[in-house]
Amino acid sequence: MSEGRIYLDNAATSWPKPNAVYEAVDHYQRTLGAPAGRGVYREAVEVERLVAETRRRAAELLGVSDPSRIIFTGNGTDSLNIAIHGLLREGDHVITTVTEHNSVLRPLRELERENRISVSRIRCDGQGFIDPADFAAALKPQTRLFILGHVSNVSGAVQPIEEVGRMAREHGAFYLIDAAQSLGHLPLSVRNCQADFVAAPGHKGLLGPLGCGILYLGEKTDGHITTIRQGGTGTASETDQQPDSLPDRFESGNLNVPAIIGLGAGLKFLSQRAAGEASAKETPTPGNILTRQICDGLCSIPGVRVYGPNSGGNRLGVVSISVASYDSREVAALLDSVHYVQTRPGIHCAPLMHQAFNTLQTGGLVRLSVGHFSSADDVNTAVDAVAELAASSL
Ligand SMILES: Cc1ncc(COP(=O)(O)O)c(C=O)c1O
Repeated sequence: MSEGRIYLDNAATSWPKPNAVYEAVDHYQRTLGAPAGRGVYREAVEVERLVAETRRRAAELLGVSDPSRIIFTGNGTDSLNIAIHGLLREGDHVITTVTEHNSVLRPLRELERENRISVSRIRCDGQGFIDPADFAAALKPQTRLFILGHVSNVSGAVQPIEEVGRMAREHGAFYLIDAAQSLGHLPLSVRNCQADFVAAPGHKGLLGPLGCGILYLGEKTDGHITTIRQGGTGTASETDQQPDSLPDRFESGNLNVPAIIGLGAGLKFLSQRAAGEASAKETPTPGNILTRQICDGLCSIPGVRVYGPNSGGNRLGVVSISVASYDSREVAALLDSVHYVQTRPGIHCAPLMHQAFNTLQTGGLVRLSVGHFSSADDVNTAVDAVAELAASSL
């Protein structure tokens, strides 16, 4: 089925995964088959150990010394909702940007519609970059939260998360980073960017299966976040009150253990690869080379317009294009049916980003996104396929 398949939809979910991820999930399903944190028999204890190891690896990735500050969630959206709905109170003001995904925009819009909060959405430039000064300009006495996506899932632009973090700290606002498109591809230290929350799916750059996400909760958030769900945690079972301790407070119900254990294998793969790259003395990562290759290749095609930063800019390999007068859905369907090149057309759950690019009313763009296992040949084939399609309409 997958022979010849060129998968360039890694911004949606990464594929393939490292073999170790498949093996870890298979081992759990066939052999371990126990819930986490709820049994004393040997398989349950082993599951508990593997879940704790995944938590430790996720904490290490973010430079967090206490793994209990990492919460497992169902996906990136779940992480963002836990932070946004858990933190915000009547009268709060939030500053965010037009580059965000609907998993930020919609929870905010919902609270705004109920007249509970107010929101400032700051603009981006023609390449998709925000200006940190706009955060400062939007400040109000009641500003309580800054939210910024590290990397846009449309433009691939890498935002200045550290500068914005300094401003949040100066103003005393909480700071939530949506690292959905960056984690696993770019380093992110919660200390350097002064983040109070980092939300991310486990199934994109971190290489875990679908159905898992993580949320980092900084010390400053203690006592400020209500739980949007309560229930069994396997701890403090003698009381019917939700425990205060982390991570249990935010992990009610059985965890998606197969996905979390798979995520652990993905994180291990990434740390081993990073160690290999460090010992090879700073060779550019394949991702960087492919980012340049795909941007340059697509930019050189007559009739194709690449949105977002150019290949030399501060960007990742999430590249959105228009192809001559074609509708984005038509392009994506033809790329798949004729060339087996898989991309994502449309608005990418980022309506304000497309509005900023003037592509909202015209059916959006075609997004090609490279992943950890994409190759130079994949990119060449995709670029040739787009060129063939573009030529046919000229
Ligand atoms: C920037 C961004 N934020 C959040 C999300 C939501 O992640 P999930 O699909 O895991 O809920 C996505 C997913 O595409 C994304 O690209």
